[in-house]
Amino acid sequence: MSDGGQVLPYELIGGEAGLRRIVDRFYEIMDRDPRAATIRSMHGADLAPIREKLFEFLSGWLGGPPLYSQRTGSICITHAHQPFAIGSAERDQWVMCMRQALIDEGISAETRELLDQPIFMIADFVRNRD
Ligand code: HEM
Repeated sequence: MSDGGQVLPYELIGGEAGLRRIVDRFYEIMDRDPRAATIRSMHGADLAPIREKLFEFLSGWLGGPPLYSQRTGSICITHAHQPFAIGSAERDQWVMCMRQALIDEGISAETRELLDQPIFMIADFVRNRD
């Protein structure tokens, strides 16, 4: 499958199954790695609901089915983050978990390089303080 001859990032990371593994791993890392303790503490004890929401969001963001916007009618995630103090330290924790999840799930160095800047940029976009 392709879009105008270009392979979608969604396909490069292994479609739905690949994305689910990455998101599961992302929250496992957030849950266990002490370097992500600040952002872990912002989340509830049960990570299952947010796991599903991030999966839905990233599905559309990577060029796959736009599950989050279909469900919520929006792709705006800044509002959902407003109650949380997200500065550059918290952004970097989030990016660290995502980079590690991509490595752990065997995503190629080429695909990781392709995604690295967009991932940083969307995480920085969510930041709501220095
Ligand atoms: C930059 C650091 C970030 C922090 C600290 C953070 C933290 C959080 C927290 C605490 C929640 C609420 C969880 C709950 O309801 O229990 C949340 C929700 C959410 N986050 Fe983030 N987040 C960050 C970045 C991102 C990024 C970059 C994305 C997307 C690529 C994202 C996607 C989402 C989504 C989809 C939700 C659910 C929104 C909804 O309720 O509809 N977050 N985030």
